Amino acid sequence: CGIVGYIGEKEAAPILVEGLKKLEYRGYDSAGVAVFKDGEISIRKRKGRLAILDEEVTKNPAKGNIGIGHTRWATHGAPSDINSHPHCNNDCSVTIVHNGIIENYMDLKEDLVAKGYRFLSETDTEVIAHLIDDLYKTDLLTAVQEAAKLLKGSYALGVMSTKDPGKIIAVRKDSPLVVGLGERENFIASDIPAILSHTRRVYLLDDNEIAILTADDVKVLDKYGEEAGKQVFKVDWDAADAEKGGYDYFMHKEIHEQPKALRDTMTSRISAENEDIVLDKIKLGKDELKNINKVYIVACGTAYHAGLIGKYVIEKYARIPVEADIASEFRYRNPIVDENTLLIVVSQSGETADTLAAMRLVRESKGRVMAITNVIGSTISREADDVMYTWAGPEIAVASTKAYTTQLTCMYMIGLHLGLLKETITKDFYNRIRTALLRSPEDIEFVLKQEEKIREFAYNNFKVEDMFFLGRGLDNYVAMEGSLKMKEISYIHSEAYPAGELKHGTIALVEEGTIIIALCTQEEVFEKMMSNIKEVKARGAYILAFAQEKNKAIEKEADQVFYIKDTEDDLASIGTVVYLQLLAYYLSVARGCDVDKPRNLAKSVTVE
Ligand code: G6P
Repeated sequence: CGIVGYIGEKEAAPILVEGLKKLEYRGYDSAGVAVFKDGEISIRKRKGRLAILDEEVTKNPAKGNIGIGHTRWATHGAPSDINSHPHCNNDCSVTIVHNGIIENYMDLKEDLVAKGYRFLSETDTEVIAHLIDDLYKTDLLTAVQEAAKLLKGSYALGVMSTKDPGKIIAVRKDSPLVVGLGERENFIASDIPAILSHTRRVYLLDDNEIAILTADDVKVLDKYGEEAGKQVFKVDWDAADAEKGGYDYFMHKEIHEQPKALRDTMTSRISAENEDIVLDKIKLGKDELKNINKVYIVACGTAYHAGLIGKYVIEKYARIPVEADIASEFRYRNPIVDENTLLIVVSQSGETADTLAAMRLVRESKGRVMAITNVIGSTISREADDVMYTWAGPEIAVASTKAYTTQLTCMYMIGLHLGLLKETITKDFYNRIRTALLRSPEDIEFVLKQEEKIREFAYNNFKVEDMFFLGRGLDNYVAMEGSLKMKEISYIHSEAYPAGELKHGTIALVEEGTIIIALCTQEEVFEKMMSNIKEVKARGAYILAFAQEKNKAIEKEADQVFYIKDTEDDLASIGTVVYLQLLAYYLSVARGCDVDKPRNLAKSVTVE
């Protein structure tokens, strides 16, 4: 979910709706705003996309200069008008928006019902509105502080009350929240793009901090009620970075931004001129590294797939055993962690609840945490010992593209860095990989030039219902990411399979006309891949192969071949995955799907 708030001299509703549009990637099954004027709060909230709310607010304006808004991704209670936020107490004197999940809401609800409160929705959020009302004695701030003490779970809250007009109270725990500072106007939001067109000066709230906003002033208190002494964070991204910039879909734009994103991510870290690798936010030194005997890479979704490649690279370059795991699995399998463990978490948003929880578990057991994330100031970035930012810029499309390839870039650099520290790679090897890595933006540009051919394939095959992605070694991990992209945005059933394992079961599904995406970029197993292709071809499959330019032999077996520029095998993943992103993208477009907002998915999942 995403929340936003405005207090100032302008009409609040249009500002809230505009801000919510920038947060739609956080959830978009319903939306609402509440605006305050002359002792009354007007609420407009609707199930469905934000456009529906926008229409409602235009038809039936909510007037006032103070307001809060919300875009929802349902957790407790299905998407409906009633379950949409904002929620209020029975006499509508307290109105709130909430992002997160209240774990003890059933207990709280029972108490409140016993006291006579009537509940209208099925949400956990409504409990908070009644609770604040119940605890209201003197002023809103104290009531929110008291309520926060009783809430278990995660929340970012924006609260207004008719009993204490002229202010918004905002508080967070385990859900992101920023405060935007303007001239005679102030803002709250789950994420910076929502307020970027109004201000570039923000406070990044920490857990348990509470902000009191009036039109002229913002105060932030820590959990003890003392002034928190916040530093103003100056946002230096371009507002256009968060817009679509001429492309039909954010995903398409983001696919095309990858050469730049990779160059940005390498800048100041590796260069053609300088033989050193500079990872200044990684403080883990040679001596500490000596004691590290186990590395875990933990993440969710696409970031996990980057983690699998990280595992391969770090084991190969630094000769340390690495396990890659899905965050929601890692936490509950009683992992062996101590002070000699290094956890690398990968997260575009830096807010994913499962990843964050895995990280906290390792920290409690004294392990060291390194984070790869795209969001400066995100919770994960702030809690990690070492941070490496992917400088991909804001990623809006739900399906991750540029965040993934920049995560790979970081993985290669970390692998090289650890390999150099441990002296497990030679300078020559390092220089070879470094040179190839520096060339990878051009490798992507080469792939992007073949876009039309991928589009053609997609339009000729958009009715396909199943697809198999095969590969060996690193190609297998890339296949997993390609298959996930396909499922996410085109809703085509697909499976990624290690090519050698196919014959042990899954080949039973291959029949006349089955489309097989065969990734054949790894020299060492190229011949083996050729044999696997023959196996499926013999069962009537149609083979779309991806290989390095030097391996023209593939044309003998495949029905259609797409080439990537010759490169180090370890880095073939970067060019190959861009083809697979384009393939998923064009199939999604050809099938008329909503590319940027696939059904049932959210960009940032801050619930477990
Ligand atoms: C959600 C998104 C995925 C993303 C995953 C992890 O499921 O839909 O695209 O890969 O979360 O997100 P993170 O922000 O931690 O990388």
